[in-house]
Amino acid sequence: MSNQQQNDPLFQPYSMGDLILPNRVLMSPLTRARSSQPGDIPNDMNAYYYQQRASAGLIFSEATQVSPQGKGYAFTPGIHSREQIEGWKKVTGAVHMAGGRIHMQLWHVGRISHPELQPNGSQPVAPSAIKPEGAKTFISADSGMIDVPEPRALETEEMAGIVEQYRQGALNAREAGFDGVEVHAANGYLLDQFLKSGSNHRTDEYGGSLENRLRLPLMVIQAVIDVWGKDKVGVRIGPTGSFNAMYDENPIETFGTFARHLNDLGIAYLEVVEDSFQGNHANGRPEEIIDAIRNVYKGTYIANGAYTAEEARERISKNRCDLVTFGRPFIANPDLPERFRQNAPLNKWDDSTFYGGDEQGYTDYPTLKELEASV
Ligand code: PHB
Repeated sequence: MSNQQQNDPLFQPYSMGDLILPNRVLMSPLTRARSSQPGDIPNDMNAYYYQQRASAGLIFSEATQVSPQGKGYAFTPGIHSREQIEGWKKVTGAVHMAGGRIHMQLWHVGRISHPELQPNGSQPVAPSAIKPEGAKTFISADSGMIDVPEPRALETEEMAGIVEQYRQGALNAREAGFDGVEVHAANGYLLDQFLKSGSNHRTDEYGGSLENRLRLPLMVIQAVIDVWGKDKVGVRIGPTGSFNAMYDENPIETFGTFARHLNDLGIAYLEVVEDSFQGNHANGRPEEIIDAIRNVYKGTYIANGAYTAEEARERISKNRCDLVTFGRPFIANPDLPERFRQNAPLNKWDDSTFYGGDEQGYTDYPTLKELEASV
């Protein structure tokens, strides 16, 4: 190994709670919509897909609904039934067998859903009855992308039940053998809908003031900490994300304050989507917000957002982040860390097979070794 490789910032081990991550190349949570039907149950093919990627410093599972109400797309997996827990055991077992580590991402979609996906054909729920203009979902293999309808505003009395959904999901994830959990509070799903001023117009104690907008997300995170302990819990936020019709009038204040509360709670990490979902940083990175968060949040900062290996090395070297998650490159390169280590070329991703389908575009991307063996 050359000196340069030994000093590669991406390959300095990192310790987080009782986990030692062998590298800083983490796999993002990635919706792939390939669970078994009926029942949204993880299967052997899913287990193999994650196992192929076990060389990641840490894997985040695809977003996983904590309850039937938390579901927003056809074929996404859940963590609320016995069969799903057993299915996820196959995934965690396969990853651990290959020497990897995996956290589950706990998900409730809120208003990004459709009556066809909801129990008893109900209206999706949200902080306020505001339709996310332009937001889309799919309800079957051939529905295409369709508009999500106007949601129903949750009653104040329903908040305890939402917290309970996450608590049960966290318990189930523990039973399924995960190493920890990430609470999804980004990309326009339920908790992000509460955090951001554009989607939360409530007048009770869960909306209006900033402290009120933070209330439900903090209650959820506390419940998850109660199950797992703070060292095994992280949170994903997207301060400037506009995906799913999101807007906040003062993201520095909102997310700086949220980060201060998360620091007080002592969670293990904060994963920050430093752009919109699938963004390309056309307008640069939100450095001011990154500063605001870095200043108050003392735990592990995980950066997400279309980074190349070289950019990630630079960000870590400049102490802008501790770890980096990679999404689309990990879809197409099961051995992404090794490719980064060697500065090897990357397989290209095929976006027509991101959501739904079979092995094609899922478990059939070759590793470098397989490519070498085939010439
Ligand atoms: C999606 O299914 O499109 C999706 C899911 C979770 C995210 C972002 C996008 O955080």
